[in-house]
Amino acid sequence: MLHVANEDVKKAIGDAVKPQLIDGKFTMSEGGKTFKTYNPATGKVLAEVTESTAKDVDLAVAAARRALGGEWGKFKPFDRQAVLLRLADLIDKHYDDLILLDSLDLGCPITSGGPKKQRAIALLRYYAGMAVDIHGNTIQNSQAGEIFSYTLKEPVGVVGSIIPWNGPSGMAIWKLGPALAAGCTIVLKPAEQTPLSAIRIGELCLEAGIPAGVVNIVNGPGHIVGAAMASHPGIDKISFTGSTETGQAILRAAAGNIKKVTLELGGKSPNIVFDDADLDLAARGAAMAVFPNSGQICSAGTRLFVQRGIADKFVEKVAEVGNSLKIGNPLDTGTQIGPLVSEEQLTRVMSYIESGKSQGAVAVSGGERVTTGDLAGGYFVPPTVFANVQDDMKIAREEIFGPVISSFVFDTIDEVVERANATTYGLGSGVWTTNLSTAHKVSQRLQAGSVWVNCYQAMDAAVPFGGYKMSGNGRESGRDQIQDYLETKSIWISL
Ligand code: NAI
Ligand code: MG
Repeated sequence: MLHVANEDVKKAIGDAVKPQLIDGKFTMSEGGKTFKTYNPATGKVLAEVTESTAKDVDLAVAAARRALGGEWGKFKPFDRQAVLLRLADLIDKHYDDLILLDSLDLGCPITSGGPKKQRAIALLRYYAGMAVDIHGNTIQNSQAGEIFSYTLKEPVGVVGSIIPWNGPSGMAIWKLGPALAAGCTIVLKPAEQTPLSAIRIGELCLEAGIPAGVVNIVNGPGHIVGAAMASHPGIDKISFTGSTETGQAILRAAAGNIKKVTLELGGKSPNIVFDDADLDLAARGAAMAVFPNSGQICSAGTRLFVQRGIADKFVEKVAEVGNSLKIGNPLDTGTQIGPLVSEEQLTRVMSYIESGKSQGAVAVSGGERVTTGDLAGGYFVPPTVFANVQDDMKIAREEIFGPVISSFVFDTIDEVVERANATTYGLGSGVWTTNLSTAHKVSQRLQAGSVWVNCYQAMDAAVPFGGYKMSGNGRESGRDQIQDYLETKSIWISL
């Protein structure tokens, strides 16, 4: 059933060129250029968006700098808490707009909005709490009695947040929460593939009472607009989520003024199933560790290691779960799997699937793009499960970012831990077993920022998320994250 009428889609998108947000005003770029965003379910143009230039980035940074020293700088912790709570309420009230825009822009099923909404609101409320819990320490130094010392925490300053397309509104909110709680100001750049919901979030920020210039939004291609942010001398910190390659480029560009940089990057996460696991639970879990969002999830459990005795049957079961998921128009309430975000991503994913086949892996399910019926014009790839994958194949080593599971057979704990860790990445990982000792032993030996045992992809505002090795730098969510948005000042008072 189509959840949203065509008129409502038209209304949500409108005809006007989508603006940028600088200093509290929605404007067109001074450069006059625009770019198009496409609906990946149809391949058709969705909207036209103003393309910011390096000069617009300068204007946004200047506005953010002024805002730090203006009204926002005078906001007390309780004032920042109040606006974050108001923003959470507004996101709650208008979430339908955001999920509709994301569904059109990214292709995520509209029904995925329920859990995402709860998470977005919870994140903002969590950070609202953090805003009133920022404090330094008094330190009894070795000259106590003569000289007294304490630390103060101050906002790091202007933050550049660069986000990817695989979770447009959720990712924007995840970046805004801690930055605002800490008292920073922000220049946010959504991905050029999915710019629409960020503009709506910008409106809600203003409605929540966040002063002009605190949240600025620029749009356009990463190598121009993102690069201008990464090298900008007026930006104090970059918070980036996206590919490892772009993360490396940002680190290099950030060296100019020694920006603080936190990175949430790619992954090739292992998901390990022992023969004593609850196999029905594990099969569903293994499929849902990858296929939601068409596999466009940084921590997707794409390397599925299955213990030898159960391997063939288990992989069949995972393929069955994959086959049972309904592919379709993201606006349809029955749809569980939408399209990939773009033609580029489709080409990339299909080239990995072809490489898997040519290197001798066997597609037990999926493996071909949908080319018939209503979906033929969109970028649809069905859940694909590969058997007979060897550790040195491309599909075993590289992030595909599509609905593709590469499965492997293993015998012992030592062997699987070694193979699971034999990657440059270290974001997520999964362990499926009913043996408590195996669960703990393997969890402690996996080199990954998150280990999910008998579940996958559980997330919470209070629990840190991030990567070991080349999967990133820093953590998002949790008590410590806010420290990345704060400077520590030590003050010495001679007595
Ligand atoms: P990307 O990492 O290049 O893009 C993410 C964001 O970075 C976008 O806002 C983009 O405009 C910006 N960006 C691009 N180049 C930049 C630069 N030189 N300086 C500053 N910002 C820049 O990812 P892309 O090209 O969209 O996707 C390519 C592959 O990256 C995907 O197939 C996937 O494997 C991986 N990826 C991983 C993500 C994750 O969450 N782990 C998210 C998105 C992509
Ligand atoms: Mg798009």
